[in-house]
Amino acid sequence: MRLRTPLCDRLGIDLPIIQAGMGVYRGLVTTPALVAAVSEADGMGCLGGSGLTPEELRDAIRQVRALTAKPFGVDLLLPSRLAQNDGSRDAIRQEIAARYPAHRAFADSLFTRYGLTQSVIDMIHALTPELTDAQTAVVLEERVALLVVGLGDPGRVAAAARARGMLVAGLVGAVRHAHRHVAAGVDFIIAQGSEAGGHVGAVGTLPLVPQVVDAVHPCAVVAAGGIADGRGVAAALMLGAQAVWCGTAFLFAREAAIHPVHLAQLQTGRSEDFAASRIFTGKTARTFRNEVHRLWAETGLEPLGMPHQKVLMDDFLDAARRGGCLEAVSNPAGQIAGMLHATRGAAEILHSMVDQAAASLHRAAALVQTA
Ligand SMILES: Cc1cc2nc3c(=O)[nH]c(=O)nc-3n(C[C@H](O)[C@H](O)[C@H](O)COP(=O)(O)O)c2cc1C
Repeated sequence: MRLRTPLCDRLGIDLPIIQAGMGVYRGLVTTPALVAAVSEADGMGCLGGSGLTPEELRDAIRQVRALTAKPFGVDLLLPSRLAQNDGSRDAIRQEIAARYPAHRAFADSLFTRYGLTQSVIDMIHALTPELTDAQTAVVLEERVALLVVGLGDPGRVAAAARARGMLVAGLVGAVRHAHRHVAAGVDFIIAQGSEAGGHVGAVGTLPLVPQVVDAVHPCAVVAAGGIADGRGVAAALMLGAQAVWCGTAFLFAREAAIHPVHLAQLQTGRSEDFAASRIFTGKTARTFRNEVHRLWAETGLEPLGMPHQKVLMDDFLDAARRGGCLEAVSNPAGQIAGMLHATRGAAEILHSMVDQAAASLHRAAALVQTA
């Protein structure tokens, strides 16, 4: 079964399904095996590159290439406002200790509560201009088919990518951001509704996608947020999107690397268990609601900005992960997880979405009465 749109032709793929880049915890989720499996199955796989060092990112790209000759993408976060200091986690930690003692005390209390020894994450840089520039340079040098800018300013890379024959997409959660990204020269927009997993805006997929389609016409739009089966794909196409960008659906792929405790949260969680908050990164992100959400709410504190809140929480999250306290670690996923239970191979997920989308579109067409 084929469900080909003009954007598929530009991307060099047969099926309008792109597996979302997921850069959580050193990019472990979107393994080269997952990315290659999706691309091999005629959709498009995408590495989540934001948590990787430039060397790790280059290595992951080359691993995908060893598994498939088909096109794939890399997703990076390029926030426009980043740390003004030297960008090292130590400098940010010192600033937090001096200026935000109550936040520091909260993070310290988490170590005590979960019986963890105080430690710092083995990673020098937070998200800084130096890191994102170096990651971008790797993606350009490797001439990956698609660069997705998940947060921030695609203007920094659009011209250089085009000169290398690559496509650039911008992920947006609001119409005004879509205008900005088109002006910055992206090839297409991914409009992500607030039901999505990971960083989210305030507008749901159903109102967001058609508004973005109208606002940026004739630029192509891909729909994201809450799409995990063929009914969602059909709905996205009906809204004017030319493809879908799915994250949570592929957390259930056997090729994804997700801890069993987190997978169990996804398999048993109801849609309302996936809550949007600024606790873990300073920007609003949807994650499985765990005890840390409640403990934070009890403090009444306002989260710090990015990267300060992320640096504050990363040390605890890293220690909790290493200490086996996965139930306290942030587990980003979208509301559609409430509908999903079984793990399957990535190709099966993709092909069942396409078959069901085609059936849904036929069913919808049959409802139309001409007389
Ligand atoms: C575990 C996880 C990690 C994510 N990490 C990133 C990321 O690093 N960069 C990014 O642009 N989006 C990230 N996202 C958002 C996805 O790219 C995508 O937009 C979202 O998953 C789509 O909504 P859905 O989860 O309902 O399919 C992440 C999402 C999840 C679930």
